[in-house]
Amino acid sequence: DIESLPRLRAPDSTLSLLREGYDFVSRRCDRLGTDGFCTRLMLRPVTCLRGPEAARAFYVPGRLTRRGAMPAQVLALLQDKGSVQTLDGAEHLNRRALFLDLMSQESLDFARRLLREEWRATARTWSGREVTLSREIGPILTRTALRWCGIDPADNAPGQREEELSAMVRGAAKIGPGHWRARALRRRSEAWAREQIRAARAGAPPPGTPLAALAYHRDPDGLALPRDVAAVELLNLLRPIVAVGRFIAFSAHAMATEPEARASLTTDEAMLRAWGDEVRRLYPFFPLIGGRVQKPFSLAGHRFDRDDWVLLDLHGTNRHPAAWTKPERFDPSRHLAGTPVEGGFVPQGGGLMREGHRCPGEMLTQALLSEATALLHEAQFETPPQDLSIPRRTIPPWPASGMRLRL
Ligand code: HEM
Repeated sequence: DIESLPRLRAPDSTLSLLREGYDFVSRRCDRLGTDGFCTRLMLRPVTCLRGPEAARAFYVPGRLTRRGAMPAQVLALLQDKGSVQTLDGAEHLNRRALFLDLMSQESLDFARRLLREEWRATARTWSGREVTLSREIGPILTRTALRWCGIDPADNAPGQREEELSAMVRGAAKIGPGHWRARALRRRSEAWAREQIRAARAGAPPPGTPLAALAYHRDPDGLALPRDVAAVELLNLLRPIVAVGRFIAFSAHAMATEPEARASLTTDEAMLRAWGDEVRRLYPFFPLIGGRVQKPFSLAGHRFDRDDWVLLDLHGTNRHPAAWTKPERFDPSRHLAGTPVEGGFVPQGGGLMREGHRCPGEMLTQALLSEATALLHEAQFETPPQDLSIPRRTIPPWPASGMRLRL
């Protein structure tokens, strides 16, 4: 119920958000019996919302901009200046089309093939020993991502690339030394990416690859992207592909902790997709997405004015009882039964794919997660005793043990 949005009594909630992470919004909504509340974060007034109704309102195209809606330190490591997420209107649609055009079925299948190859090459060293999936998966996905983009890992220090791309995700929601180390690695990564764009423009990048698409993309005025912007967008392809590793570790976690569901898992495509969707629904990744109001609107009696800051609780919405029965239960079959309530399934944002800011890499994420789930299923791993808890205030987390598997 969003009708009357209460105001929290605490003058500022920043420390509570840092302390409670994924549970910050839901705990307060549950306590207040609402689907939203007003508070301050970093002293700035903000309205926090959750649930499918709020998600539908949040994702009406053109209503909210992402500019001025994310803490500067998050923006610096994810997305960055001039990138697709910071754009609005015609310029946004044009840049977004660049990403969506990379998601053809052929290209998704190619990504799956590359992941299988890289996984198999690495898995040769695994047999008979115990491996920590959180450590093994980064290099596999980095090589997959580079090759998918049209970049040869052999000439591009994949170990350094992995270090940089992982640090950006790990450091985004951190403050202090962890964050500044990631910023330094980000600068090194941007220099490398600019060189990729320069070389692609000077030479002949493999046609049809994402690298070629970026190098030769034209904005609505017919101009090529500035080199630093094209470089930032290259990182916006590579970094999140490596980040899919967390969902892969969570998929293994679900196999380890949900024996009943695991018993019904097969490598049937629809089943793999449903398993991956249930992993994306329940496991923590991006807790919240921020927007700043561009076009004023009302939501169940509450007025949102221009420049108001709004945070949508993605994690809480995925577990909202208005969208799911027994929301806390891990049950892949719920995704086979039909389409979810509109706005109720938003692990990578909501709204339409063509416009708005919903993650354009969602289909690629699903494809890679399906392939990895099949590989994990085929590996028939066992889980040695370990700490299988998942931290609630590390954003985004790995399973506490790193997910150790015996193969
Ligand atoms: C945007 C999540 C994977 C590229 C987003 C947003 C979320 C998200 C929450 C913001 C939605 C909004 O602003 O409303 C995730 C998660 C992933 C993932 C959890 C799994 C690891 C990917 C992949 C790619 C990608 C694999 C590309 C290869 C992007 C881009 C945007 C975006 C370019 C900005 C889109 C825009 O503003 O129009 N993602 N994503 N993401 N994602 Fe992803």
